[in-house]
Parts: sequence; C-alpha cells; structure tokens
Amino acid sequence: MGVDVLLGLQWGDEGKGKIVDYLSNKYDVVARFQGGPNAGHTLEFEGIKHVLHQVPSGVFHEHITNVIGNGVVLDPIIFKQEAEKLHQYNIDLTKNLVISDKAQIIVPTHKLLDQAYEKAKGDQKIGSTLKGIGPTYQDKIGRSGLRAGDIVLDDFEEKYTELKEKHKTILDFYQFDYSSVLKQMEADFKEGIAYLKQFSIRNTEYLINNAIKEGKSVLAEGAQGSMLDVDYGTYPFVTSSNTTVAGACTGLGISPSSVNKVFGIFKAYCTRVGGGPFPTELFDEDGKRLQDIGREFGATTGRARRCGWIDLPALKYAIMLSGVTELYMMKADVLNSFNKIKACVGYKLKNGETVSELPYSLYEIEEPIYEEIKGWGNELSVVEKFEDFPQEVNSYIDYLEEKLEVSINLVSIGPDRSETIMKNNILV
Ligand code: GDP
Ligand code: IMO
Ligand code: MG
Repeated sequence: MGVDVLLGLQWGDEGKGKIVDYLSNKYDVVARFQGGPNAGHTLEFEGIKHVLHQVPSGVFHEHITNVIGNGVVLDPIIFKQEAEKLHQYNIDLTKNLVISDKAQIIVPTHKLLDQAYEKAKGDQKIGSTLKGIGPTYQDKIGRSGLRAGDIVLDDFEEKYTELKEKHKTILDFYQFDYSSVLKQMEADFKEGIAYLKQFSIRNTEYLINNAIKEGKSVLAEGAQGSMLDVDYGTYPFVTSSNTTVAGACTGLGISPSSVNKVFGIFKAYCTRVGGGPFPTELFDEDGKRLQDIGREFGATTGRARRCGWIDLPALKYAIMLSGVTELYMMKADVLNSFNKIKACVGYKLKNGETVSELPYSLYEIEEPIYEEIKGWGNELSVVEKFEDFPQEVNSYIDYLEEKLEVSINLVSIGPDRSETIMKNNILV
C-alpha cells in the first residue's frame, strides 16, 4: 500500500484540493506535509464551494483520518476560523484530524515580519501571501521556533514572549510600525491556542507509519507547486518549503521506500500568482481569455493569477525531481473555445543559445519556443468517460504524453467533483 503523493507541478493552484477530495474515497489517511495557510485548495460538490487553507482536503470524508504533518506551519487563528466554518457543514475536526506535535506555530509577529521583509524588498518583492510562512520556516531552521507540542507546556508563554521580543527588535530595525495591530492579533492568537488544545496533537510519524504497517492507504497532499520549491523553484521567488516529493518524507516522517505512486497535477495551460519569472506568460488577448474563462483569481489572496501557455521543459523538470508516475491534467475545459493551443518546448536565451532544460535563472530566457496544436473548439461537459473525448483532445493528450514520457491518467473538465474523467479508474 504505502504512501501515494499528489503534487502540483507548476506554480501552484493546479487543482490539488479538488483531486485529493476526489481520490479520498480510496484512502484511509490524507496528510498535508508542507506549507501552511498560504495554500488555498478549492473543493466543489453539491453546489457548494469550499476553500481549505490549513486542513487537508480529505476532511469531507468521514472514514478518513486527516493529518497536519510536522513539515506544515500552523496558524492557530486561521485554523480556528477554518474549523469553525467546517462545523457549519457538520464536520467536527476534533474527531477526524490529528496534528503533529512537531508542526511549527505561526505567531502574529511572523506575519508582521513577512510584511516588513516584503516592504523592504520594494519592486523585488516576492508577492508573498503575507501569512508568515517565510519567517516561521526561518525560525524553524534557526532553531528558535515554537511547535504545536509546546502549547501545553508550562514555559509556552515564556518561550512565546522571548520569540515575540526578538521579532520586535527586527521589526524596529525595519522601522515597521506594528503598534496599532499587534494587540488584537495577540488576543486572537491566544484564543487560537486555547482552541487548538482540544485537538489531538501527537507524534503523527508513528500514526502514519503504523497505518502503513497495517496495510492502510495514505495520500500525501502537496501544497504550492514544484516551481515554488525552495531548492528547485524560481529562487528567490519561491515559497519556503520543499514542495517536491522529498518534502513528503521529511514532512511526515516516512521513508522514501514507503512512497508508492506520485501523482503529478498540472493545468492544460499555466498560471502563476505573485512575483518572479514566468517564461510563457501572455500579455495578450489569449492571456486575458485564460484568466477570464479559468477564473484565475487566487483562492487565498484574491489576486489575479498571471496566465500563459503550458511550459513543457518546466513540467519535465518537475516530473524528474519527484519521479512522477502518473499525470493528471486539469482545467481542460478552459481551452474549449481555443482553436489553437501553444506549448513551450524550449527556450531561446538572451545569449542567443537555444535550450530545452531550465537555465539557472528563468530571467536568462529571451523567449519561449512554441509548437502549435489544434484546439478542440468544443464543450467537454458532455464527456463522461475517457473514450468520449473529441479527437483533438486525444491528440493533445498524446502529444503531451510523448513529450513528458508519463501517461495522463485523469483529465478534469470543470471545478465540480463530478467533472473528473479518469482513464484507469483507481476508485473502482
Ligand atoms: P489548488 O491550490 O491546487 O488546490 O488549486 P486552487 O483551488 O487554488 O485553484 C484551482 C481552481 O480551479 C479552483 O477555483 C477550482 O475550483 C478550479 N478548478 C479545478 N479543476 C478545474 C477544472 O477542471 N476546470 C475548471 N474550469 N476549474 C477547475
Ligand atoms: P496552493 O497550495 C499559488 C506563492 C505566492 C508568492 C510565493 C511565496 O494553493 O497551490 P509565501 O506566502 O509562501 O511566502 O509566498 O509563493 N504561493 C502560491 N501560489 N498557490 C499557492 O498555494 C501558493 N502559496 C504560495 O504567491 O509568489
Ligand atoms: Mg490554491
């Protein structure tokens, strides 16, 4: 059985939440292993749209144990809001969610530091979600962070104050005025910590490894995307965690040998939110159409997502880094009205060279090299099984499979859970 891992292969927002929810019937455990409330995972079913930031996307399935792993950074304020919202849908997270005692806690001053650092960067800002992700991971690696397991200890208050005072010194250095907001944030934080205490906070690495031993199935849910990975993404325009498959091992406490399938999920085109290079970004009518039809606005910040054509060298890179075993193509319906689709197959660099691998910095790219593919110019909403796709969709799938050397086993044709077409349906 082991652990299957689902990862975004682009710059995030590929549709991970939808697919984790869709696949959940097959699994016993769903676990988040990195990132935090910078994630916005959208699930749609029964006419309702849910956006999850902090909790795994298996929460709507009663039989599932959901895990927030040690690699995650946890904001008690956002967690409380999210848990209370889910309560309205009769989801009681105290019953089906377990939190790692080693997950790092996002404190209010982490969020203020995020703002201060971004402000100081000026036009080089990363476009962070300002949820305190970077500063919290900095404290983790700097060995001064607070962990979920600390909240019940006697010296928690003392440790918190020590950390806060350190942060205040940095904020003062950046001349960042926090006087009007910190008090309220701290009050909310205190409430969040009190709320968190009713949850099961434990050594989830044992829970997951025992589940594996007992033959149960585990799905690890990635957040962000491979091109936002802190090591391999478009550094420094990245997030602060490993979003590739290795992150699932360190972020859950599982060995690489327990990783079974790796599902790589990508949009039939490409988007990015925030700053940083994006070689295939479109500034023309096609880009505007992708944004409008795809409703490309951030699930966490509401910001407009930058849109462009699919970038095959970047996808191949992400597939290589994580050993992706099967591909899931999302948002195929967004291309319904396009007569022509383009796919980037290489780059012309500013120094005149032509390459098919990613250069050190994507800013070295002068322009993408495109191939043109015939679109289907057709509604896909009538499609019920893989065999029903119009010939042009099959051609696009064949084309991508040949270039990416991994088979596409799922095509998503709309935001709803039901609008999902699987080739070799692992759910039956
Ligand atoms: P995640 O962060 O990877 O979970 O993705 P997001 O939820 O941030 O963004 C994906 C968006 O696309 C959400 O609004 C989904 O409801 C929507 N979506 C997912 N799959 C499809 C699809 O196949 N077609 C369309 N049109 N929308 C989709
Ligand atoms: P999901 O899980 C898309 C981007 C931000 C910014 C950079 C760093 O929904 O796919 P951070 O807040 O992590 O310091 O921001 O990463 N980013 C995302 N973009 N989807 C996400 O998550 C993202 N999480 C962070 O826009 O450019
Ligand atoms: Mg998202």
